[in-house]
Amino acid sequence: MRILVTGGAGFIGALAVWRLLDLGYDVCVVDNLSSGHRSALDRASRLAGRPVEFHLCDVRQTSQLISIMQSFRPEAVMHFAGLKSVAESVACPELYYENNVQGSLSLVQAMLQCQIDRLIFSSSATVYGANGVPPFGEDAELGPVNPYGRSKWMVELLMRDICSAHPEFSGIILRYFNPVGAHPSGLLGEWVQGSPNNLVPYVMGVLQGRFDRVRVFGSDYPTSDGSGVRDYIHVLDLVEGHVAALNLPKGLSVFNLGTGRGYSVHEVIQAMQSVSGRIIPFDVVDRRPGDVAVSIADPCRAHQAMAWKAERGLIEMCQDVWNFAQCSPKGYELE
Ligand SMILES: NC(=O)c1ccc[n+]([C@@H]2O[C@H](COP(=O)([O-])OP(=O)(O)OC[C@H]3O[C@@H](n4cnc5c(N)ncnc54)[C@H](O)[C@@H]3O)[C@@H](O)[C@H]2O)c1
Repeated sequence: MRILVTGGAGFIGALAVWRLLDLGYDVCVVDNLSSGHRSALDRASRLAGRPVEFHLCDVRQTSQLISIMQSFRPEAVMHFAGLKSVAESVACPELYYENNVQGSLSLVQAMLQCQIDRLIFSSSATVYGANGVPPFGEDAELGPVNPYGRSKWMVELLMRDICSAHPEFSGIILRYFNPVGAHPSGLLGEWVQGSPNNLVPYVMGVLQGRFDRVRVFGSDYPTSDGSGVRDYIHVLDLVEGHVAALNLPKGLSVFNLGTGRGYSVHEVIQAMQSVSGRIIPFDVVDRRPGDVAVSIADPCRAHQAMAWKAERGLIEMCQDVWNFAQCSPKGYELE
């Protein structure tokens, strides 16, 4: 089976590429390298012992996508390409609607033209409304509170309409909770240039001496220690969810990919301290606008429909991140 992976040079995409190659799929990546790294693909290919086809291409370039699809003839597309910073989306919403929404529309147009009818889309738990009560089931009320989340929601609506109009189409929406972790080899993981928005890459930066202290946003949330609680999922479990989605029947499917268990910011810092044996200095600061107190998935639907379940716990996620920090101290730089 041939799979086209957009955004395959990014954090989650490169791990998906490795796993697909490892399972014997032929993989073609399109990525504009705006945040991804060509060397991540080289590492994925080296780890799997198989080549990967790469095209420097922006998903908004529909005609270039069409010619790549006509030549590679994929049976499915995994669509990771996109921008993902909530703060940046608030400052520059037009960038997010253009890249995430227009980019996805361009991809769908190319797929329809080339008669490729299976699309697996990286959505996000940010599509759930701020007023819902966790754990969130897939039918919980939606109502994202920032442009990033709204850009994901718009693509979900697009996929819903495409599936209604084209009965042969499989549109699979995967709502990720908080992906962390790395490949156990320490060769593939999340490498953010500049200042990361997410907790674990920031903690990793502190451990590597790139930042002085972690900032913990909020001390008065209604949680056990006052910090925000999130459902962290190992990126390899997330990738297995994508592999499982390749076998779903036609039509629209929506799944949460999470563990169903939440951890506070302080629990994550504690876990990173215990796997690294280092003290992680932190400051508690004000809440960050747009953050919710608790975000936890109800992952039962994915378990029932795809026999998929997250297997790895927080310590394993932190161990793999620490291993990546040590094995790749400069991330993908200098390659
Ligand atoms: N990491 C998370 O916490 C998280 C959570 C929920 C959803 N997601 C979604 O999962 C997907 C992958 O996330 P990630 O963490 O791997 O991010 P990432 O930034 O590491 O990877 C995104 C990749 O897409 C590429 N890209 C961006 N815009 C493109 C365009 N217009 N054309 C071609 N390539 C483009 C980038 O160069 C990069 O390689 C994103 O869509 C993101 O919104 C991520």
